[in-house]
Amino acid sequence: MAGIYLHIPFCKQACHYCNFHFATSLRLKEQLVKSLEKEINLQAGYLQKQPIATIYFGGGTPSLLSITELENILKAIRKVHGVDTAAEITLEVNPDDITIDQLKKWKDAGVNRLSIGIQSFNDADLKWMNRAHTAKQAMVALEYCLHYFENCTLDLIYGLPHMHAIDWKKNINQALQLGVPHLSCYALTVEPKTPLEKQIKLAKESSTDPDKQAAQFELLMEWMEQAGYRHYEISNFAKPGWESKHNQSYWQGKSYIGIGPSAHSFDGKSRQWNIANNAIYIKAIEENKIPFEKEVLTAIQQTNEKIMTALRTDLGLNLSEVASYEKSILQAAATYINSDHLTLANHSLQLTRKGKCLADGIAAALFVD
Ligand SMILES: C[S@@+](CC[C@H](N)C(=O)[O-])C[C@H]1O[C@@H](n2cnc3c(N)ncnc32)[C@H](O)[C@@H]1O
Ligand code: SF4
Repeated sequence: MAGIYLHIPFCKQACHYCNFHFATSLRLKEQLVKSLEKEINLQAGYLQKQPIATIYFGGGTPSLLSITELENILKAIRKVHGVDTAAEITLEVNPDDITIDQLKKWKDAGVNRLSIGIQSFNDADLKWMNRAHTAKQAMVALEYCLHYFENCTLDLIYGLPHMHAIDWKKNINQALQLGVPHLSCYALTVEPKTPLEKQIKLAKESSTDPDKQAAQFELLMEWMEQAGYRHYEISNFAKPGWESKHNQSYWQGKSYIGIGPSAHSFDGKSRQWNIANNAIYIKAIEENKIPFEKEVLTAIQQTNEKIMTALRTDLGLNLSEVASYEKSILQAAATYINSDHLTLANHSLQLTRKGKCLADGIAAALFVD
């Protein structure tokens, strides 16, 4: 089983923190969608006829696609791939694009999971982020989504410079009260070349505070556990049975193909990524060329990726899967087991709650060379 990711590189306006690949002019949208359909054909052999278990429309803002564009992309996929009848088909949607009419159309087109970019239920936060919607719009949109789609997840960002624990709690409570079955929560990262980074450099904005972010993450873990959600990956919480199949397949090292500018693909041994430029991408596809760069992963790189991704999940790192390096990994893990950052049970290393606050650093300390 494999997955397909489609990158829709357009947004109505630029959120100040975001450095994903997108354009705010929709001028090339029609042409780009045609190129996506063509790339699906050009890349038909990449997954070697594996059936498709998950399709994920990400961005950018995929809810800017017209329904015909969405249907045509899905048609192009079904023409060249065997899509499992129970496939998870996720669409990332922004609150300002959600109407009852759209929800019905997305459902009829085959979408069965919505990832809603709420970010915050607080107007001051949304304004600070330069989001294109208000808190009221987010609430109404979310209620509509939950009415038409059982399988919904929402994105929230914490650790904004001015955010207090009480504000963060209000955001989480709002989501929990509505019974959203899945949440992705991200600590605000100051990304290079974003308006946020510029403002911080000019001292017009305060930077993020890692201690405050860690404290808000710890509170988050506590609240979500009390509410009965499984913390199945560092940033992801689900009621049992509502975990994202698509994201889990990334963490399990399954193959996937990424279609569109900046999209990444992985076949188990190598990774490739398309150029992050809409005009160059369209031109290359017109000439039947896929503009990508590729990296073949060495056995050591594959092992280190495994350590990083597996440790971020609640299943942890199964040592049988990295058998040739078990001894060195266990040696490096000993300090963290003693300091209660890691546990070793059933031949797997798992991060404790304390360890989850330092996940990336601990994974790096376990890397092999
Ligand atoms: C690529 S965005 C696409 C989602 C959709 N366009 C939206 O904005 O709602 C995926 C998610 O990444 C998160 N994100 C993006 N930039 C971030 C940053 N600098 N720090 C923390 N989270 C970020 C946001 O929560 C966002 O919803
Ligand atoms: S967060 Fe979403 S809407 Fe905002 S710029 Fe990034 S991709 Fe676009």
